[in-house]
Amino acid sequence: MSDAVHAFRQYLEETSRFQSYLYSYPHKTAYRPFEEKLDLKTLWAPEKKHALYLYTHIPFCRMKCSFCNLFTVSHPREDLVSLYLKKIQLEAEVVRDTLGDFRFAGYAIGGGTPSHLDVGQLEQLFAVYTDILGVDLRNTPGSFEISPDTINDEKLSFLSQHGVQRLSIGIQSFIETEARSVGRVQPETVMEPLLEKIGSYQFPVFNLDLIYGIPGQTAETWLASLKKAIQFQPTEIFLYPLYVRPLTSLFKKRGNAQDEDIRSTLYRIGRDFLQANGYVQDSMRLFRKPVAGLRESSEYSCQEDGMIGLGTNARSYTTDVHYSTEYAVAKPAVASIIDDYVAKDRADFMTVSYGIRLSLDDRKRRYLIKSLLKAQGLDSAHYQSLYGAAVHDDFPELQTLLDMQLAKEESGRMQLHGEGLAYSDLIGHWFISPTVRAKMQEYVPR
Ligand SMILES: C[S@@+](CC[C@H](N)C(=O)[O-])C[C@H]1O[C@@H](n2cnc3c(N)ncnc32)[C@H](O)[C@@H]1O
Ligand code: SF4
Repeated sequence: MSDAVHAFRQYLEETSRFQSYLYSYPHKTAYRPFEEKLDLKTLWAPEKKHALYLYTHIPFCRMKCSFCNLFTVSHPREDLVSLYLKKIQLEAEVVRDTLGDFRFAGYAIGGGTPSHLDVGQLEQLFAVYTDILGVDLRNTPGSFEISPDTINDEKLSFLSQHGVQRLSIGIQSFIETEARSVGRVQPETVMEPLLEKIGSYQFPVFNLDLIYGIPGQTAETWLASLKKAIQFQPTEIFLYPLYVRPLTSLFKKRGNAQDEDIRSTLYRIGRDFLQANGYVQDSMRLFRKPVAGLRESSEYSCQEDGMIGLGTNARSYTTDVHYSTEYAVAKPAVASIIDDYVAKDRADFMTVSYGIRLSLDDRKRRYLIKSLLKAQGLDSAHYQSLYGAAVHDDFPELQTLLDMQLAKEESGRMQLHGEGLAYSDLIGHWFISPTVRAKMQEYVPR
């Protein structure tokens, strides 16, 4: 057994499973100012642009939840929201004028809380999509995030009429006291009719987010939340283990010491309950019911196709450069990054100043992390065709996952299975490269 393989086995056996959520790689805490600004046109010139993904970040919420480390501010000034939308329009115009021929195969509007926007502002944002970026809303799968305290009938009707395919709502807990303990006011008398109303719009995909590991949550209250959730027949449910990150108010209150056993137990309860109720596990966090007749975004492949991000904290990806504005959690830092964004002019949007250049090694690691941590798994032949190397030669540790029966391999496809998916945040963390890891460790939260 090589040293790396031995070390990996020991790491899997001895380290907490809750290391980091790698929904993207490299993590944005590894981004830094580029030594020289990159020219947007030059950056995108060699890229394939026929099936891009479009992400817009709305960094505003009505209130800030005590656990939340997402890039967002609560109670923004109304004029700030309008200035922000005007800048999104300018940024989109620069993308249109600079990238040449392109087409979007899918989009997401996330945050923060996009449903913080009023209908007039939603109209403005969707006009950017259709009139500037040429997005065909009827035929392009799109996702939109909402929160219970900002959504209403008028907005639901707007989103439905504009062809939004996937509506996603954060609930976190159906237990009123648990929600309140993390800063969310969600009376039962309001939640039930609200979710029934949302259901009546019949968005093709309806997702609901829950969190496990909330202070005071028990196996019983968790199960009660899960039971309540499925009453509203969501097609997808995300179960997030709580991560208490620096600078959040929960961190200030109790540090990040968490009882791993509670999260592991609640994970198992959630997984088993949803599977018993017809949901299929797609990753450690995502459970879904098959939906017939969905407009698929199969054209877009997150492994190979690029992404354009609009707004603060929205990442853009070319093959080997990832970029965005800076990331922050504390209110003064988030507010100052938003202020810098709204002060930008056309010339500012034509260059890129902050991000990371991916080495070949990091591109391989990205491929590995983004495929292995999904139920669909890692296709060795596809890896070989992209990188001209065998994935087991590049990453001999993969054999350990097979030996420990955390993964299986059939017809050249390696999949985490059984308890394997529960180790996702540990496995992903292991495969971070030394260079990216060093940058993440140097990063000072702000
Ligand atoms: C953009 S929010 C969802 C929409 C909306 N802002 C809301 O909260 O209702 C994305 C999701 O990330 C999850 N989340 C955010 N911070 C988290 C943390 N520190 N630990 C676990 N889950 C977290 C929550 O479940 C949240 O619903
Ligand atoms: S969880 Fe949602 S509503 Fe709460 S602060 Fe984060 S983005 Fe805003």
